[in-house]
Amino acid sequence: QFAQKDGFRFFMEKEIYEQSDVVSDCMLGRLKDEEILFDEIDKSLIDGINEIKICACGTSYHAGLTSSYLFERLAKVKCNVEIASEFRYKEPLLTKDTLFIVISQSGETADTLEALKMAKNAGLKSLVICNVDNSSMTRTANNTILTRAGIEKGVASTKAFSTQTVVLWMLALYFAKAKNVISKEKLQSEIHALREVPKSLKVLDKVHEKARRLSKRYLHGHGFFFIGRDVFFPLALEGALKLKEISYLHAEGYPAGEMKHGPIALADPELFTIALMPENLLYDKIKSNVEELSARDSTICAISPLDFELADDFIKTCKTDHYMLEFFEMLVVLQLLSMEISIRLGNDVDMPRNLAKSVTVE
Ligand code: G6P
Repeated sequence: QFAQKDGFRFFMEKEIYEQSDVVSDCMLGRLKDEEILFDEIDKSLIDGINEIKICACGTSYHAGLTSSYLFERLAKVKCNVEIASEFRYKEPLLTKDTLFIVISQSGETADTLEALKMAKNAGLKSLVICNVDNSSMTRTANNTILTRAGIEKGVASTKAFSTQTVVLWMLALYFAKAKNVISKEKLQSEIHALREVPKSLKVLDKVHEKARRLSKRYLHGHGFFFIGRDVFFPLALEGALKLKEISYLHAEGYPAGEMKHGPIALADPELFTIALMPENLLYDKIKSNVEELSARDSTICAISPLDFELADDFIKTCKTDHYMLEFFEMLVVLQLLSMEISIRLGNDVDMPRNLAKSVTVE
């Protein structure tokens, strides 16, 4: 088993480093100069569809939440996202103009599978975005897109998330083109950005080293807030989840603009705030949110390509011209930070306590 780690200390570390390659596999044959191809799905999938409903659990839910911004922004289609265990018992109203999408690394998560069956029974068109072919979900859904991330061993999901997010971004563009709501230039520039994702997911030595250094102090944190806006809000949720899962430290992901409606009351030097500050999306808005926290003496770790003088700690990401590329750069930083903290705490990174890779019971 050791050999399979290829010299990495943990499978999670190996899987973080693999992300750049597996997203390339994931895009292979699906990206053309001026269009996105998904030969595996019905040509008529989007016909008559006015709404997308996404169901998932855990990290896959965060990929879904991220994509809801992209489906509305790029494909101009209403999109809402629900946690599968909530969806199942709320007596949801399902209408046939809704495309039902489930996202799952394993294809076996009981709540997600059940949500999919409910949608199918209600006569909805369904699509599963999955990493495991011939899983319960791929056998149930009408359509499948495989994420091609390869086997993921670490319980804390990493490369499954990045490939899911890339598939969903491509799917938003696929729908945008099919509905004719995107200009040729815009589509080309989005495709251009997609081609840069593998680069953004490359782990830079200096970033890993910085995460390693920060972990020394951060492992003493008792409370962490991860904050961001727009797609960086689901990314903040994912950063907080990673830290909880493997470090057992209390962390919350929050929309930055919502901090003033309660959580800011917690601000003091013991509150560690990890601020996602992308250059290409709402920079001034998030900056003023972080300034408010800094003014109340919260300890700030800013992740940004732009210098931010109020930050107590700073992790610099590369300059890019698309917010989704910043998203992937920051994803890697968050994964490394939680992993380094976990390692320093002496935890079993790949098999955290109380958790299972795939939850096949309700
Ligand atoms: C478990 C895993 C998580 C995962 C979630 C959903 O809780 O520990 O890492 O995100 O299940 O799994 P799925 O296979 O449906 O994506």
